[in-house]
Amino acid sequence: LKIGVLISGSGSNLQAIIDEIEAGRLDAEVCVVISSRPDAYGLVRAQQAGIKTVALCKDVYADYESANASIAAELKAAGCEYVVMAGYMRMVTDPILDAFPDRVLNLHPALLPSFKGAHAIRDAYEAGVKVTGATVHFANAEYDKGPIVAQRAVEIAEDDTLDSLEEKIHAVEHVLYPEALQMIAEGRVTVGDDRKVHIAPRG
Ligand code: GRF
Repeated sequence: LKIGVLISGSGSNLQAIIDEIEAGRLDAEVCVVISSRPDAYGLVRAQQAGIKTVALCKDVYADYESANASIAAELKAAGCEYVVMAGYMRMVTDPILDAFPDRVLNLHPALLPSFKGAHAIRDAYEAGVKVTGATVHFANAEYDKGPIVAQRAVEIAEDDTLDSLEEKIHAVEHVLYPEALQMIAEGRVTVGDDRKVHIAPRG
């Protein structure tokens, strides 16, 4: 499975994907890593793994549609089949979604449709819910709303702090995202006419 990864920050999920590929548990190749920020640490991780990187500076985003068009062009040029958002803090818009229909994935640090938005871990913690988690879903034009591929629960214990909860959720994400990608690599994941994700058993 040829993937392009979009990042904006630390890239720990990118690292988990790279590690699972190197360990032979994820049948994928990261063709390019594109960052919305030139100072994202994830770019260093990509370079250390010998992966082509593209960093977009702020000015590029002044014109959002053309920024997304140039990202789509980079992804296509690198031969990507799927686009993997991993801590990418920008909206993907039509130029990318149209070029990769039902092939853009996002990772969200809560059990969607609960706690959408940029502060999902904190929002869940402050709401006092006892279970939250992580979600892998296909991205569409509506933020945090596309068809859900995989989810895993994380319990919030009495002695959890926001920091410890963040750690638990990130640890789960680092397992869940590569697993979801492996299901896709095995050709088991489809989006049905009902706009839900259907997962075929291992064949
Ligand atoms: C993850 O918590 C992900 O759910 C959210 O952004 C974070 C990315 O972390 N969308 P990293 O850059 O992969 O370390």
